[in-house]
Amino acid sequence: MISYGGYFGFENDVRESNVIKDHFLMVNGRSALFLILKIVKPTKVYIPFYICDSVIDSFHEARVPISFYEINEQFELKEIPSLRETEMLLYVNYFGIKENYSRYLNELLNGKLILDATQSFNFDASLDVFQFNSLRKYFGVPDGAEIHIPSQKHGILERIAALANSTDYLIDHLQLRNEGKVQEGYEFYKINEQKQRVSLRRASELTNRIYQNISVDKLNDLRRSNFMHLHDEIGILNKLKIPEMEYSVPIYYPLLPKSDISHQELWAKQVYAPILWPEILRRKFSDSFPNTLSLAERIIPVPIDHRIGKIEISLLAEIIRSIHGR
Ligand SMILES: Cc1ncc(COP(=O)(O)O)c(C=O)c1O
Repeated sequence: MISYGGYFGFENDVRESNVIKDHFLMVNGRSALFLILKIVKPTKVYIPFYICDSVIDSFHEARVPISFYEINEQFELKEIPSLRETEMLLYVNYFGIKENYSRYLNELLNGKLILDATQSFNFDASLDVFQFNSLRKYFGVPDGAEIHIPSQKHGILERIAALANSTDYLIDHLQLRNEGKVQEGYEFYKINEQKQRVSLRRASELTNRIYQNISVDKLNDLRRSNFMHLHDEIGILNKLKIPEMEYSVPIYYPLLPKSDISHQELWAKQVYAPILWPEILRRKFSDSFPNTLSLAERIIPVPIDHRIGKIEISLLAEIIRSIHGR
C-alpha cells in the first residue's frame, strides 16, 4: 500500500553521472577475497604474515590452503616463492606506496597475483588481475568493497549481480559521530565491525546509495594532499622510502621513525594511530617471522583522512616531531 507524507528516509535520487556501470560492491574486503577464491579455486595461496586475521578467515571459509611469507623493512617479500600452475600469491599495496613493486611482482609471477587494495583504495588499471578494497576504511559507510574482475572472467559479473544485498549492519556510529558523540558511537562502531563476516553478499543498498552520491575523487584528493603535506613536514624522520604515487590513495601515512615512538605516546596526545595488527603476536608460528613482528611494532600508521586539512596536518607534524625529539 502506498503511504503519503510522514518522515523521510535517506535520499534516493542518485545522480546519473555517478552511477557506475557493471559495478558491484561486495559487502566487505574479506568477502570480495572469498568470491575471488571461489572463482579461481587455487590449490594454495602465499600470503604475507603481516596481515589481519579477517583475510585468513576468507581462506579458511573457502578451504584454500595458505603459506605465509616474510617481508623486509620496505614491505617487500624477503624471498619470492616459485609458484605452481594452480597457486597464487596475495600482496597488499601497503599504505599505497608499493605500486611499482606490485607491478614487478605481477610480472615475475606471470599474473598469478591477487592485489589487496584495502590500504591504497584505487586499483591499478595496468594490471588485469583480481583486486579488491574496503570502503568503510575510507568513508562513512557501513560496509562495501569494490572488486576488479580480470577481463577473461567477466562472465562472473552476472552472478555477482544476482547476489543479495547485505542487511546486517549498523549506522548508529555514523550518525553519532556526525553529532559529535564520538565515545557513544564507538561502541556501535565495534558492533558493526563484529558484524563483518565472510559471506557471498553484496554491499547494503544504503552503502550503494551513499557511495554513488559522495565526491569520492574530491575526498581522495584531500587524503593524498594531506599525505604529501605530512611527508614534507616529517619525511626526514622516516626510514621508509616514500615514492611518488600514480593512482593510490593511502589509508595512513606510514612512519617508520628513526628513533622509536610508542603508539601510547601518540594516543596521549589524541593522535589515534592504530596498531596493525595486534593479532599477529598471538598467531601460531609468529617466531618464524621476526621482521614482520619488529616492523609491526615500530610502524606508526598516522591518520591523514579527509576530515583534516593543511592546518591540522602541520599541528600533527609538530606533535610527532616533539615526541620523536624528546
Ligand atoms: C590488509 C587487509 N586486507 C583485507 C581486509 C579485509 O577487509 P574488510 O574488513 O573490509 O573485510 C583487511 C581488514 O582489516 C585488511 O587490513
